[in-house]
Amino acid sequence: MCGIIGAVTESAIEPVLEGLGRLEYRGYDSSGISILSNNKIQTIKAQGKLNNLKERLSMQSLEGKCCIGHTRWATHGRANVTNAHPHQCGQVSVVHNGIIENYLQLKQQLMQWGHHFDSSTDSEVVPHLINHYLAQQMSPEEAIEKTITQLKGSYALGILINGTSNNLYAIKQGSPLVISQGNNGAYMASDAMGLGADSSKIYYPKDNQLITLNNHEIKLCSRSLNTKIHYVNNKHCSKVISKGEHSSFMEKEIFEQVDLLKKLSVNNYYDKYSAINFKDLNKITIIACGTSYYAASVAKTWFEKYANILVEIDIASEYRYRSPIIIDNELTIFVSQSGETADTLAALRYAKSKSAQTLALVNVANSTIAREAKFTFEIYAGPEIGVASTKAFTCQLAIFYKIAMEAAKQRSFIEPSELKELALNFMQLPYIIEKILQNRTDMKMMAKKLSNYSNILFLGRGALTAIAQEGALKLKEISYIHAEAYAAGELKHGPIALLDEKMPVVVIAPKNNLTDKLLSNIQEVQARNAPLFIIGDSSIREYVNLQEDEFFELPLIPESILPIISVIPMQLLALYSAKILGKNIDQPRNLAKSVTVE
Ligand code: AGP
Repeated sequence: MCGIIGAVTESAIEPVLEGLGRLEYRGYDSSGISILSNNKIQTIKAQGKLNNLKERLSMQSLEGKCCIGHTRWATHGRANVTNAHPHQCGQVSVVHNGIIENYLQLKQQLMQWGHHFDSSTDSEVVPHLINHYLAQQMSPEEAIEKTITQLKGSYALGILINGTSNNLYAIKQGSPLVISQGNNGAYMASDAMGLGADSSKIYYPKDNQLITLNNHEIKLCSRSLNTKIHYVNNKHCSKVISKGEHSSFMEKEIFEQVDLLKKLSVNNYYDKYSAINFKDLNKITIIACGTSYYAASVAKTWFEKYANILVEIDIASEYRYRSPIIIDNELTIFVSQSGETADTLAALRYAKSKSAQTLALVNVANSTIAREAKFTFEIYAGPEIGVASTKAFTCQLAIFYKIAMEAAKQRSFIEPSELKELALNFMQLPYIIEKILQNRTDMKMMAKKLSNYSNILFLGRGALTAIAQEGALKLKEISYIHAEAYAAGELKHGPIALLDEKMPVVVIAPKNNLTDKLLSNIQEVQARNAPLFIIGDSSIREYVNLQEDEFFELPLIPESILPIISVIPMQLLALYSAKILGKNIDQPRNLAKSVTVE
């Protein structure tokens, strides 16, 4: 994970600090910069959020034309100042995103050569190795190239070397990196989001292509002379993203869902989706992590029910390690908001190596997953800043719903009238969600009561089990309340042992074909004195005797769109619980928005 950035421009510290602000979603345990100033590398670092670094920098006046910066999500070594990047050795300073897997052997070797290490990170071996080769009279380019032949693992590196006339070096292997040549300078960053207004054209370097950036030009090293730098437009360029009237990005993103779904319901993307031949498919496998995985779980139910396609879903970190069986005419779908999740990317590469047909469903256009899959469909959620994913989930579901309809159409599995009904149901989404958001005060009351507990159990049935899981994940992520989710029918097979007056149970219970079964599960909960909370429609209310703050009423909702609607109260519940508990909504502890390490 981690965000890295670099700039060679008149006052390089400004774009670096701005960029770090935009990259903070990749990690915020600590941050730091190195700047080439008066023929000297100056490095300033701070523990915690970027503001701490800014505060330290405000106490000194640093100027320079060549600067690198880093925002960290700790892997090797605690989140403290010593382990914060950049790491410096002599005249070399380095920022790193990724993991150097053989760092212990390298460190041992370097220590035998007399090097002394300050941090417990894997990254620190990089400046030491470069320094070692520079001492052997190699040129900076040779020293960097020699160094990377020693590294095993993944890396994107920004490298400053004193005495190189304001050159900044960048190189990657496996980890994301983007380069840009602007009117006023040259820049590098972990992803396009980190780049500012001067970066309308960007280049995605290939693995192990050493790039030299300076004020006037971007150069590939001599080894890569046959390759051309091919710039593409930066869709994220200079977009200023603010919270508007909201107290957090997550809150803003929850409220944005109404407009996003309005846009998705008027746009017809069938043409695009018809690029896939669903008629002859024998199987779909959907692979993702976290929230995106729960979107896959819901999508499975739609593909099976409306298009009669065999669907398997898998957690990306497991997929390639379990010898998955890829059959003829199988479509593998990779779902990722960021398009950079290391596990999902590795799974995609694995599927490609086995000649599977690949489709990516991403929010970030031009992300690595988007670029590497055969087909890519965007989910059009716009930049999602809150670490806890909300609008990307509903947009993933919305696009899956449309793809499932296309599959149903091609396979003629359901009647045209039913297909029409599915489309009409979809059109209702933004209006129903708007209504739910208007009733948010009711959810605040429920959150007030629930936030007194340390553990919460979520239950759902059918596609709504995935929504219960997503609700539990949201709550864990931002309120730190321990929450688990089960298919309600599983309760009696074990988790029921947990129930007593200290273990509240939240049941997602809108009216559908499983309501009767669910009512029995609710009885089981009440019989064990567990505090009961229900998110359901009025038809359920008469069966349960609950107080105002224990029942969140949903309008009557067509079954096909229930999962998309039911997640909204879950998001609100997590948001309000975290607010009540005074937690950091957008940057919860230990997390990062984009998980770019395995
Ligand atoms: C969700 O709230 C998460 N923070 C996390 O589970 C996320 O969904 C997961 O890391 C996958 O990310 P991706 O969609 O960008 O691949």
